[in-house]
Amino acid sequence: MTRAEQPTVVSPTSDTLAADSRERAVRALLRIPPLKRLWSAQLVGGIGDALALLVLVLLSLQAAVLEGSFGTGYRGAAFAVAAVFGARILSTLFFGAVLLGPLTSLTGPGGKLDRRWLMIGVDGLRLALLVVAPLWIDWTPDKALMMILITVFVTGAGERLWAVAKDSAAPALLPGPPLEGAAVRPLPDHLDALRRLSLRTSFLAVPAAAVVLLVATLVGNLLGSGLEWFSFHQAALGSYVAAGLFSASISTLYFLEFPADRTPRPRSPLEGLRRPATGTGPDKGRTGAVPLLVAVCASVAGAIAAAAAVSVLHAYDLGGGPATFALLILGLTGGTALGIRTARHVLPTLSRRRLLALATAVTGLALLALGLVPDTATGIAIALLAGYAAGVAANTGHTLIDQETEAFRQARTTEHLQAVVRVLVALGAVAGPLLAAAIGRHRLVAGDFVFAHGGAAFTLMLLGALLLPVAAFVLARTDDRAGVPLRRDLREALRGDEPAVGPAATGFFLALEGGDGAGKSTQVEALADWIRSKGHEVVVTREPGATPIGKRLRSILLDVSSAGLSNRAEALLYAADRAEHVDSVVRPALERGAIVISDRYIDSSVAYQGAGRDLAPTEIARISRWATSGLVPHLTVLLDVDPATARERFTEAPDRLESEPAEFHERVRSGFLTLAAADPTRYLVVDAGQEPESITTVVRHRLDQLLPLSEAEIEAIEEARRKAEEEARRKAEEEAARKAEEERLEKERQEQLARLRAEEEERKQRELEEARRREAERQAEEARQRAEEARRRAE
Ligand code: TYD
Repeated sequence: MTRAEQPTVVSPTSDTLAADSRERAVRALLRIPPLKRLWSAQLVGGIGDALALLVLVLLSLQAAVLEGSFGTGYRGAAFAVAAVFGARILSTLFFGAVLLGPLTSLTGPGGKLDRRWLMIGVDGLRLALLVVAPLWIDWTPDKALMMILITVFVTGAGERLWAVAKDSAAPALLPGPPLEGAAVRPLPDHLDALRRLSLRTSFLAVPAAAVVLLVATLVGNLLGSGLEWFSFHQAALGSYVAAGLFSASISTLYFLEFPADRTPRPRSPLEGLRRPATGTGPDKGRTGAVPLLVAVCASVAGAIAAAAAVSVLHAYDLGGGPATFALLILGLTGGTALGIRTARHVLPTLSRRRLLALATAVTGLALLALGLVPDTATGIAIALLAGYAAGVAANTGHTLIDQETEAFRQARTTEHLQAVVRVLVALGAVAGPLLAAAIGRHRLVAGDFVFAHGGAAFTLMLLGALLLPVAAFVLARTDDRAGVPLRRDLREALRGDEPAVGPAATGFFLALEGGDGAGKSTQVEALADWIRSKGHEVVVTREPGATPIGKRLRSILLDVSSAGLSNRAEALLYAADRAEHVDSVVRPALERGAIVISDRYIDSSVAYQGAGRDLAPTEIARISRWATSGLVPHLTVLLDVDPATARERFTEAPDRLESEPAEFHERVRSGFLTLAAADPTRYLVVDAGQEPESITTVVRHRLDQLLPLSEAEIEAIEEARRKAEEEARRKAEEEAARKAEEERLEKERQEQLARLRAEEEERKQRELEEARRREAERQAEEARQRAEEARRRAE
């Protein structure tokens, strides 16, 4: 069996479980038609907004270079870019400080403003602004930059307005029975999913906008070769596409119906910002690492934002134009989105804390390289790498923060993180171009070596260089593998080495799992009998309590007098029983080639101590993996039963775990089901509500395909094969003999035939000769008679 086929116990971690259910919740939202409509408007409008910003950056650059209001040349251009991002940030602050209050009361329940028309109005305004944006350079060449900055400011405030109107509208579209006279209160996870969807959409809008800009620029260049106007207004087409996207958003919104007055309190997107880190901020987490983790995530995000902000300058430095700019933005932001999405699968066996440090370092190195390398194609690939590493760092950092925080505090910590990230992103976007302006263009010559770079390239190198000590600091302060060389960890992670997790090479290990009262013992016996009848050595065993030590552990674990046993101690005692069990019973049996059937195994711990108690299933699985040196069953049969039904089957007094409340057993059940769902090839889930015989039949059917052959079976098969061969040989001989006989007869027949033919020929020949002879005699007779006649006549 190759590594890839080997089932492992690691698959469903607590993170994956949570991520899966979140993913489902987000998808479920999109099945609600009005929400889907609102969401498409957000997506289209969001792409429009991001595209507008990119286009306005390009236009500002053009205007700045033409009018020289910030001073001419490189510095002027860099200042113009900084001014665009500054205007955008100012608009957000202005919105939060001035517009948000009145807006909330106007669009709130009973408010005078209709949210849908507000959104349509904002889209209309943005549309109009973008239609005229490329024309300012023609109309007022010396005030064009000012007009573009005003456009940035107004569209920025408009975007906030739109987002707040949307956020206040969306919850009303969620399903949920309206309570009497009260505002609708959607389920918290619905709201969470909504926030996630919204965040994800605005996140994807930037790379999507970069793609649109790229296409628009290429088309614009084509048009430019024919039309003078387009070759001068390189960004114009992008601007019109953005306007088109806003009109698409308008038409989507126009057909959307909002239910009236089902409005919960609107959530301001600035809530995080207005809540400072002090006081209500999150605590320092379990190991005190939260502030550091937040700082790392934010600095990586800030560095990428700064890199994106200077990328327009860098694109021109590389000798490119809007298309190169679009590609750099696409690499940086698309890479980040990709990194966030796939971070879970990056070096899954490496400590997440080490991965965070590593990804931060890679981001730094990539930014450093991006500044150094003067080649466009390489630069774009490096930008993608930088973005990807940053995405991995951000996601890993976030996961670690979640792990540090109590579940009920996680939402608040996330909000706090997002607020800090937002501040650093804003800071980076303005500081990047300012730094580029301050540095300016430089040309270093050392012998033959010429090093000519713009301020943007130096800024990128500086950003990269700054991330390296950050990465080193994270590693030093949060490392959870102190003493193990990073290089070794990394090498093993790259090889994908999970400490030898897999089923045994010999024998067959079958585990039966399920809640209390699922009927495991009955099945274990029935299956054991059946497998024995096939001629296997069967070892029936159980957890806890299959060994002498295990028995003592079992009595501690199940005795009602152990009430109050701490969760962690309980988990470790089960693991201890398991370690002893595997070492002294299971492995030796498997090595002999026996079939081991265990009543309960690792999954019981993951379900009872993980899902049932409040311990992390990942941790529980990890402890068991260590305890068993990674031995996993070839097949785990899950007897799934409703805990209430199972309870009716209890005949004896319930033990300590059976006495747990119903919710505990519900959690255990779903814990089991989640494990099974993650690895269908290694699990068989059977409805344990059926008759025991039907259950056994289902399991036998699956085992028939999986069980190795017993010696008796191999012997029987061997015997059958020998018989079949014998039979075949006999048949072949018979056949050969028959063939030979047939051939002989055929030969005889042919000879006979030849003889007959020859005789016939001879007879014909004889007759012919006879006829000739008679003819000759007749002719001789005639001649004799004629001669006789002549003689008589002469006489
Ligand atoms: P079991 O032997 O199936 O109980 P019974 O003899 O009453 O049928 O299992 C004993 C209890 O131990 C059961 O309630 C489940 C629990 N348990 C865990 O909580 N974690 C574990 O890892 C294992 C193996 C069992």
